[in-house]
Amino acid sequence: MPALLLAARGAVHRSARTGALRGGRGSAASRRRAQPGLVEGADLDRVWGGASVYDVDLDQERAAVGFWLASRARGRSVATRTLRLLSRWAFDQLAVARLELTCAPDNVASQRVADRCGFVREGVLRSHMRFQGERRDTVVFSLLPGELR
Ligand SMILES: CC(C)(COP(=O)(O)OP(=O)(O)OC[C@H]1O[C@@H](n2cnc3c(N)ncnc32)[C@H](O)[C@@H]1OP(=O)(O)O)[C@@H](O)C(=O)NCCC(=O)NCCS
Repeated sequence: MPALLLAARGAVHRSARTGALRGGRGSAASRRRAQPGLVEGADLDRVWGGASVYDVDLDQERAAVGFWLASRARGRSVATRTLRLLSRWAFDQLAVARLELTCAPDNVASQRVADRCGFVREGVLRSHMRFQGERRDTVVFSLLPGELR
């Protein structure tokens, strides 16, 4: 069972009073990236993948989540468990009201993982970004606090 290490930086800090991780306030603190690393429990030097909470906007109470796994770690529901942990952390500790997840339309594995966790597919941003010399669509999912599965 891998462990999720939270290596938060920027305005995301631990409260001296409650011990909880909290985000800062104000425009300079509104876009922060917390970057957990995913490591195998039996061997802390062996990284399985990564996951992050990014585009944190505390004024609007929303953030985005992303993740990746090394090929040896795939196919074992690790991404699903990671996304659940990260989403719960973001709702509880950053107090966001909306989490966004985006991926390429052909990234079926990511979309399955998002669906398993309760993310709702909102639609497609057409010609959203440059990718390998072409323009690429992006699929957008979102999760609200009561929807996490
Ligand atoms: C996305 C990623 C983390 C998922 O890894 P994983 O946890 O091992 O996912 P799984 O292999 O368990 O697959 C999840 C689901 O997708 C399905 N799937 C996986 N690859 C597939 C493919 N090429 N075509 C169709 N379905 C696929 C699996 O069958 C599974 O379906 P199920 O829920 O019905 O069982 C991993 O593929 C990855 O790191 N990809 C590269 C980085 C990336 O895309 N990150 C996400 C950006 S948002």
